[in-house]
Amino acid sequence: MHDATRDISAYEEISLVEEFAADVLQGLSLPKKYLPPKYFYDGRGSKLFEAICLTPEYYVTRTEHNILCRNADSIVAKLPKDASLVEFGSGNSSKTRLLIEALLRRSRSLKYHPIDISSSALASSASELLQHYPSLEVRTIHAEYFDGMESLSTITKGPKLILFLGSNIGNFEPAEAVNFLREIRTRMNPEDRLLVGVDMVKDLAVLEAAYNDAEGVTAEFNLNLLRRINCELDGNFDLDAFRHLALFNPAKSRIEMHLESLVDQTVSIKSIDKEFMFARGETIHTENSYKYTEDKLAGLFVDAGLERSEQWSDEHRYFTVNLLSPKR
Ligand code: TRP
Repeated sequence: MHDATRDISAYEEISLVEEFAADVLQGLSLPKKYLPPKYFYDGRGSKLFEAICLTPEYYVTRTEHNILCRNADSIVAKLPKDASLVEFGSGNSSKTRLLIEALLRRSRSLKYHPIDISSSALASSASELLQHYPSLEVRTIHAEYFDGMESLSTITKGPKLILFLGSNIGNFEPAEAVNFLREIRTRMNPEDRLLVGVDMVKDLAVLEAAYNDAEGVTAEFNLNLLRRINCELDGNFDLDAFRHLALFNPAKSRIEMHLESLVDQTVSIKSIDKEFMFARGETIHTENSYKYTEDKLAGLFVDAGLERSEQWSDEHRYFTVNLLSPKR
């Protein structure tokens, strides 16, 4: 099926399942079991993630939204009039709308290139945006971050604002975060700008509650990984025999998410013809969310060859939005 808004896809459906199988086999065979977080985002997972963003405990999205809402005009005032938007990990693009609107207040048309791992999120956000903003041109890029990077040099000729919001930078290991920003930096022209949203270190109770919402949406999201293995790889995980765990690790300054086995058990995954043993209390590590101090953050940008021209924050300094240019 041809969809005019869907231009670039780095995926082939068949190799996707094979890659999933290979990653599951590798991750669950490690002495410390691990599953890559990119598999959170099937259709159901993307919906659950949107629901996480609306829970009262998950201050991250709300805080960043408010910062962008208050400062969208000052942010875009720093860009050339004909700048286009590129976004890594766009999701449902709800916060992006604030910048789209600010940009459309200054010029009649705008190009927007969202890059995301979730084809369902891309498709639905693109069609909503097109309905809402008739003068917007949307070109979606279905890809993982590093694959999507290539399009930075190919899609647009003119100046661009590159968005990396939601503290998705915190889901990289610190060394990977430097590497990722550096890769972006090498593809930036002098007039391009990068806007990075970063969740900061704060009170432990606030941090842990954000990843343990009372309604259990984050738990559902985490457990969705096991459900996917059951559905797509013919596994027999008992979802009631695992529970979601999210704890702040102060030594590493990160929230760690795990799935903890509640009993001694064996799980079989037919499509890879394997059985995995779990001891009671053993966990599968599924995600990290690093929280930055201002010092660490400043160091990250310097290491990546980026110069920060401005930073916006909220009254509690829970979250910062950072505008960066390539250092000359
Ligand atoms: N980057 C955000 C964060 O770390 C969003 C996110 C990524 C997230 N993976 C998650 C939120 C898993 C909850 C659970 O907060």
